Amino acid sequence: MAKIYSPTNTHLDLAINALNSNQAIAVPTETVYGLAANATSDEAISAIYKIKGRPSYNPLIIHIKSAGEATKYAYLNENAKKLMVHFWPGPLTLILPRKENTGLSVKATANLETIALRCPAHPVMHKLLSRISYPLAAPSANLSGTISPTTAQHVHQGLAEQIDIILAGGKTKIGLESTILDLSTDHPKILRPGSVSQQDIEDIIGAIDVKEDSSAIIKAPGMLKSHYAPNLPIRLNAQFPIEGEAFLAFGPLLKEYGDRCLNLSPDNDLDEAAQNLFDMMHQLDDLKYTGIAIMPIPEIGIGIAINDRLKRAAAKKE
Ligand code: TXA
Ligand code: MG
Repeated sequence: MAKIYSPTNTHLDLAINALNSNQAIAVPTETVYGLAANATSDEAISAIYKIKGRPSYNPLIIHIKSAGEATKYAYLNENAKKLMVHFWPGPLTLILPRKENTGLSVKATANLETIALRCPAHPVMHKLLSRISYPLAAPSANLSGTISPTTAQHVHQGLAEQIDIILAGGKTKIGLESTILDLSTDHPKILRPGSVSQQDIEDIIGAIDVKEDSSAIIKAPGMLKSHYAPNLPIRLNAQFPIEGEAFLAFGPLLKEYGDRCLNLSPDNDLDEAAQNLFDMMHQLDDLKYTGIAIMPIPEIGIGIAINDRLKRAAAKKE
């Protein structure tokens, strides 16, 4: 049965002992909570896939303590080096050509020729990584196909029976999973939008391709399915709720809707909306409602990533 631990030194010791014995534990990152385990151990990686009910063809992101570690596992091009200097530690995952025989479990990368690397910025995750000698594979700490967790309590709701340790690190600062950028070909491509926007990336490396082609989607196997799926049906671009619906608003409202309404950001702040999105979807995903009506979100900056997650939440489960 999972227990939530504050990140004291004693609890970090406990977490490290668990990682050293190839258990998977939940950890905070600046994006969403992760389910972390020793990326060099087949046993530890198998535990992650089993706990999440995740198909083995869907590779994991490898979390490293510093940009300096990246060359151990991947071939870096100039774009990768520039982006690491700018955005690491932070919410940008880079897909790079994978080096062979690095000691990583092949299960973690689903035996692909590429590897996903990320250097997370959360202080608790950073402390953990600086005290162990191996990188951590960490998908989001939710059952496959459900909404990613942005609080320790969300992790507990989803995985209480499957794991023992949840390290708490507060509500996550960003609230959406990291941006995934494929740098393994000559044409950099965003496979998953996040808080590091296309414009942010282009400011550093010049023009890149946009996401909307099928080859990009197939390249991030985890993006094939409808993800982030709540139990209730989702109605997008709603201006108001109909009877029985819960309502997820954005911006100032002219009318009061009571308890069934939560507001992502009454001030039209997209960063605040991203931070609240999964938490509010968790709260409104209650069978006493018939569905969740969601107001339109501007397709700019992190709004692009919010709309990506909303479209997936609204898609029918495969
Ligand atoms: O913010 C995040 O990235 C969080 C935190 C915990 O770090 N992690 C996360 O992991 O979102 P996950 O497993 O839920 O999503 C990782 C995505 C999946 O869609 C997977 O298919 C894709 O990354 N991926 C991993 N390795 C890949 C590769 N070599 N090529 C393309 N896509 C890859
Ligand atoms: Mg996930």
